[in-house]
Amino acid sequence: MNIIYWFTFLTSILCIQIQLSKFSMLNSIDAFELSNYANVQYYGPIQIGTPKQQLSVIFDTGSPYLWVTSDQCSKQKCHDSKKFLTFRSSTYKNFSKSDEFEYASGSCKGYWGSDYVQLLGDDNTRVNSNILFAYQDSGFDAVKSDGILGLSNDKEIDNIFDLAYQQGSIKSNLFAMELRNTREQSLFYYDDIPQEIMDNVEWVRVLRKDYWTLKVLNIYIDGYPLKTGNVKEALIDSGTSLLYLPKNVVYKLFEELILQDCRLFDSNVFCPCKIPRDKVKQYPIIKVFLEGLILELDINDYMMTDLSYLGLCYIGVEIESQMNIMIFGDIVMRKYVVVFDKQNNKIGFKGVEKLKNIKTTSYYWIEIIGFVAIIVSCILLQMNLSKL
Ligand SMILES: *[C@@H]1O[C@H](CO)[C@@H](O)[C@H](O)[C@H]1NC(C)=O
Repeated sequence: MNIIYWFTFLTSILCIQIQLSKFSMLNSIDAFELSNYANVQYYGPIQIGTPKQQLSVIFDTGSPYLWVTSDQCSKQKCHDSKKFLTFRSSTYKNFSKSDEFEYASGSCKGYWGSDYVQLLGDDNTRVNSNILFAYQDSGFDAVKSDGILGLSNDKEIDNIFDLAYQQGSIKSNLFAMELRNTREQSLFYYDDIPQEIMDNVEWVRVLRKDYWTLKVLNIYIDGYPLKTGNVKEALIDSGTSLLYLPKNVVYKLFEELILQDCRLFDSNVFCPCKIPRDKVKQYPIIKVFLEGLILELDINDYMMTDLSYLGLCYIGVEIESQMNIMIFGDIVMRKYVVVFDKQNNKIGFKGVEKLKNIKTTSYYWIEIIGFVAIIVSCILLQMNLSKL
């Protein structure tokens, strides 16, 4: 063998690697791509066990636990999914304790156990975690993933980022989600979140120590303020597809939509699927006032273009029925990059409007009133002076 051959071989590998690193810049910023099914499910890969088995999970900010379907699912007991093979993993442990998780749209049963879990290809996130190995689930038939990775704000239950942070293998337990439309790339960031995001985030305090809920001060539909009654909290939930609002807010929204060319079928509203940019403003705008910032959604945000009926598209807003809590699902999250900070109990939104803008308009009025007051007192003074 001659040396030149090896040299060219090595340099070409080097070139390929440089090229690859250019394309996979993501590797250096601790992020991975999420799959998007019809804008209603966002999921990504994880690896469990020794040797590693790859499964997919929904990264769910609305629940606390990790579960996957396992080889203990007998035929038809679990939804169509890849199963974790417990007998193939040398690090799998069985706690022999059964449990059941209830979700809004289904439930699952399994045995608690533990094993090593990590994000695909990132050994720094490899942690030993409790996992519910499911032997049965229901209501998950339409679910594309093999399980759920809970990322709620529960301080008592450590998620994989908390565990990796505690063992010192990552620098922070922050994570962020950038959910996008089907045609665009959705990303999950963790540990070293890009500075460009961190510099442009507006933070809001989280109300609870278990769930990611925020205080809702007010909701406006087309500039019309609506009372939210005893519903004053909103859950930021990546595992929910739609937007759940109080009854009167939903009614007002539907009313306004039907005044446009939308139609009511069986208490759901459907609108023309393509709203031209210049027509968007004719449809209701939902403004949600949080502490210090405003979330704003237009028809193109809250219409589900993948769910159509008779040539019209489904409006993804429903009435909340869960413990007086609004749920801001993927419809809201798609609009912003959302950063979750469990340590400091706060959520950040990138691309959001600050409430300060409102203050400037009120300052503007104070200025006008002040100005008028000065003029009036000048006139009065003039009148007094001329009397003298
Ligand atoms: C785990 O323990 C339960 C209860 O003892 C048992 O029924 C189940 O088969 C065990 N699972 C595995 C994979 O060994």
